[in-house]
Amino acid sequence: MSKQIQISGLDAYYGSHKAIEDVSMTIEPRSITAFIGPSGCGKSTFLRTLNRMHEVIPGARVEGKVLLDGEDLYAPTVEPVSVRRMVGMVFQRPNPFPTMSIYENVAAGLRLNGRIGRSTLDGIVEDSLKGANLWNEVKDRLNKPGAGLSGGQQQRLCIARAIAVKPQVLLMDEPCSALDPISTLAIEDLMAQLKEEFTIVIVTHNMQQAARVSDRTAFFNLAAQGKPGKVIEMDDTSRMFTNPSEKATEDYITGRFG
Ligand SMILES: Nc1ncnc2c1ncn2[C@@H]1O[C@H](COP(=O)(O)OP(=O)(O)OP(=O)(O)O)[C@@H](O)[C@H]1O
Ligand SMILES: [Mg+2]
Repeated sequence: MSKQIQISGLDAYYGSHKAIEDVSMTIEPRSITAFIGPSGCGKSTFLRTLNRMHEVIPGARVEGKVLLDGEDLYAPTVEPVSVRRMVGMVFQRPNPFPTMSIYENVAAGLRLNGRIGRSTLDGIVEDSLKGANLWNEVKDRLNKPGAGLSGGQQQRLCIARAIAVKPQVLLMDEPCSALDPISTLAIEDLMAQLKEEFTIVIVTHNMQQAARVSDRTAFFNLAAQGKPGKVIEMDDTSRMFTNPSEKATEDYITGRFG
């Protein structure tokens, strides 16, 4: 199920503002790839180009290629909705559907896919909540609102919702930034399990987290204020954090940036 993503010559615009320029990289299946870099360098923008969420912003557009196991996500025949099903996303702030129960939060995406029997649905909801390490905490209150969970639980609920539709890729944009250290470790453990099945991309400002969880790291930076963001370098995480090729990378990861 896990898929490779190949990006080449990708530019992303907001109107006439080019936010990222000429990004090319390969993201390997069954691995965790971390995107790091200063605020405003286009990490979230780039992430959203990988599941066609960028273009939902009025005036926003993408140039270049994104291939999922060789298939062009931007081919004219491809439906953005089907891309978003294959490439799931978890956002910085947990965003469960506030009026829905825990159960319905996880089931929502599956219902969109068409009619599905109750027992099948029950099974998928349970598996997804187990997959997100949340089942034991919520199994006795599945019909209570998702909004009644703690922040860390809500983020795991959002992960359960994302994995319920069996995506091939999971994009996570600073998934732990609103969480305490214990919830953060729970999500990191979970990512390590999920990478057995999914291709995972995580944006993080936490260098220790990138070093702990990821296999590969890409460092994004702005050439200058007002210029588009670019990938400065990408390598195995162990090498990026011990012996980066670029001085800008070293300055950033050692905190000497700016
Ligand atoms: N909806 C939008 N409309 C117009 N410009 C935007 C929009 N979202 C982001 N931008 C611009 O695109 C550039 C990249 O922003 P982006 O959010 O991708 O950066 P980031 O690396 O994710 O930053 P952070 O680490 O703060 O989350 C910035 O200059 C930002 O102002
Ligand atoms: Mg961002």
